Amino acid sequence: MYCPTTFETSRSMIAGIPIAQLVEQFGTPAYVYDLSVIERRVADLKSFDTIRYAQKALSNVAILDRLRKLDVVVDAVSAGEITRALRAGFNAQSTPQGIVYTADILDQASLELILKHNIPVNVGSPDMIDQLGSVAPGRNITLRINPGFGHGHSQKTNTGGPQSKHGIWHDQVNDCLLRADRNGLVVTGIHMHIGSGTDLEHLAQVCGALEKICLTVGRTVTSISAGGGLPVPYRATQTYVDIEKYFELWNAVRNRLQSNFGHRIELEIEPGRYLVAESGFLVAEIRAIKAMGENVFYLLDAGFNDLARPILYGAYHPISICRRGSNASNRLQEVIVGGPLCESGDIFTQEDGGYVAKRQLPTAEVGDYLILEVAGAYGFVMSSNYNSKFRAPEVMVEKGIAKLIRRRETADDLVALETIPE
Ligand code: LLP
Repeated sequence: MYCPTTFETSRSMIAGIPIAQLVEQFGTPAYVYDLSVIERRVADLKSFDTIRYAQKALSNVAILDRLRKLDVVVDAVSAGEITRALRAGFNAQSTPQGIVYTADILDQASLELILKHNIPVNVGSPDMIDQLGSVAPGRNITLRINPGFGHGHSQKTNTGGPQSKHGIWHDQVNDCLLRADRNGLVVTGIHMHIGSGTDLEHLAQVCGALEKICLTVGRTVTSISAGGGLPVPYRATQTYVDIEKYFELWNAVRNRLQSNFGHRIELEIEPGRYLVAESGFLVAEIRAIKAMGENVFYLLDAGFNDLARPILYGAYHPISICRRGSNASNRLQEVIVGGPLCESGDIFTQEDGGYVAKRQLPTAEVGDYLILEVAGAYGFVMSSNYNSKFRAPEVMVEKGIAKLIRRRETADDLVALETIPE
């Protein structure tokens, strides 16, 4: 398998373009996405009938547009994500359906767009059936089922089991079928997503659970979704899930259901991280280097306002250094990498629980660049204006050309929505 992550701690290029050139063009901090990586990841999953991208991982409309051109469709969890999907040219009426709304609530703004654009709904709570049925009877719906177990890279990304708010509890399927009947809705698909960044063992358990639910629902079922959750390696010691094996598990479920029901069953997968994580690099500049007792800190112009995964989950991101002038340094030292924000948790090298960790990195100087890698998924989308920082620009490298797909925010952007009353 193609692995764009080299896990080297020195790097001079991204997607074939010198980092110094990218910085000159776009400044720091900046997110840079290598489109060729996304294309390869899409190709990996081509055995599935439908790849439905969970756009929450990286929702820039340029990326969505390129995915659409690769025959990928999307899900949307909010009015904003529906808007992005429409802007990127997806059509809810295409085959397969270009947009599916999948969430645990229907808010007013989403409901209006769902009705206006006739967007199919993957229902994550029984109440949604009545709310949708009362305004749009006669529709087909799919059910997101919580199978009673889940797993994720962090407890915060585990979306199954009784401690999770997600999906319809597995033993309430009959109640949901009654609700659907009462509202003139037909259940045509079953979906499960047990968590993000899980492993093959847990993902494999989903197959059996989903098959059982489909048999309860019966012959109206025409599609099944394996959900997302496929992990990517963030460390040299981690590997990929065997995609062929994973597909075979699901294909077997599909085949059994097809012979049971006597009609075709579409098989969907709904990855976010897998498609985009490795494409993304957050390029920052080292603005200060300081010794605090025995510790050495590299302080960047990027903070957890730009990449929140370390502070939220203790997530590990590979880090590399690009020396600005001279050649790459091959002397390594243990350092702590932090950002500019006014709280001590603004550290990129931390473990779950907020414990600061050290990383062996090349010795660097102020003005050198530091790259946080495998940052394409849940990177920019979870960025914020905390400390009134301007959100970083996003750049897509396509066929060797770096294209700006979102400009850096300005001071005017920052206060544009605020008013000072008389
Ligand atoms: N489908 C549903 C219904 C989901 O809730 C999610 C992710 C996905 C698909 C895509 O999961 P993936 O393939 O990316 O694992 N912010 C966290 C991840 C949160 C995932 C939320 N739901 C992180 O940075 O790790």
